[in-house]
Amino acid sequence: MAKDTDSDPIPRHVAIIMDGNGRWAKARGRPRLFGHRAGARRVREIVESCPELGVKYLTIFAFSTENWKRTQVEVSGLMALFKKYLLTEIRDLCDNGVRVRFIGDRIRLEPALVSLMNELEEITKDNSTVNLTVALNYGGRDEVFRATKRLAQDVADRKLSPDAINEETLPKYLDTHFLPDPDLVIRTSGEARISGFLLWQSAYAEYEFIDTLWPDFTPDIFEHVLRNYGKRERRFGAVIA
Ligand code: IPE
Ligand code: IPE
Ligand code: MG
Repeated sequence: MAKDTDSDPIPRHVAIIMDGNGRWAKARGRPRLFGHRAGARRVREIVESCPELGVKYLTIFAFSTENWKRTQVEVSGLMALFKKYLLTEIRDLCDNGVRVRFIGDRIRLEPALVSLMNELEEITKDNSTVNLTVALNYGGRDEVFRATKRLAQDVADRKLSPDAINEETLPKYLDTHFLPDPDLVIRTSGEARISGFLLWQSAYAEYEFIDTLWPDFTPDIFEHVLRNYGKRERRFGAVIA
């Protein structure tokens, strides 16, 4: 894989909606959790490809606030998979200089999972090769109303004046306060919707909706999508001469 050049810019922050695990399993006549396990294995390869591709921040959507609507079997299987994954796979990533953080509401997650998440954030806090953020029990609307509650509390406590609420102060209340905005959002599996992912943060992101199902998403496909991004012209509302 070749490194980017100035004429071929690579997005600094890439966010991925990892979709299609269920359909991947169904196509093989297997239960949905078989697809989730295959999907989880892909994450490591994609994270490991980031330094060479020049991606500094990678944010992945692992479980949405709406995914609780799935069957009990699937939800508890996913939670068990997250715990197993955090214990095994991701620990190796730490040794590769990956800093891991989580966004989403931890309140509904089981304490054993939350303590693993906290531990991982702590042990990787001095890493800086790749910033991996995992969205777990994350919803864009859920994030905005939780942020608004905290902001309203600060106004009530007179720590913040309503006049000081602007594009700089509001994002400090979001789960993503430590991240730059995503430059590129990729969704796999052919669905052209964002399902609540990073609503505020993606206001000027580029989007790529690709047909590949998440368990088939290789570093080569990732690189190809990043190259396409390099050909786009971002205008941010201005007129480029
Ligand atoms: C994405 O794959 C993973 C999660 C949402 C947890 P899906 O489980 O949504 O797979 P499809 O969309 O049913 O194929
Ligand atoms: C979005 O995928 C959430 C994650 C990838 C974790 P979904 O499969 O849950 O989204 P919808 O239901 O197709 O909108
Ligand atoms: Mg899906």
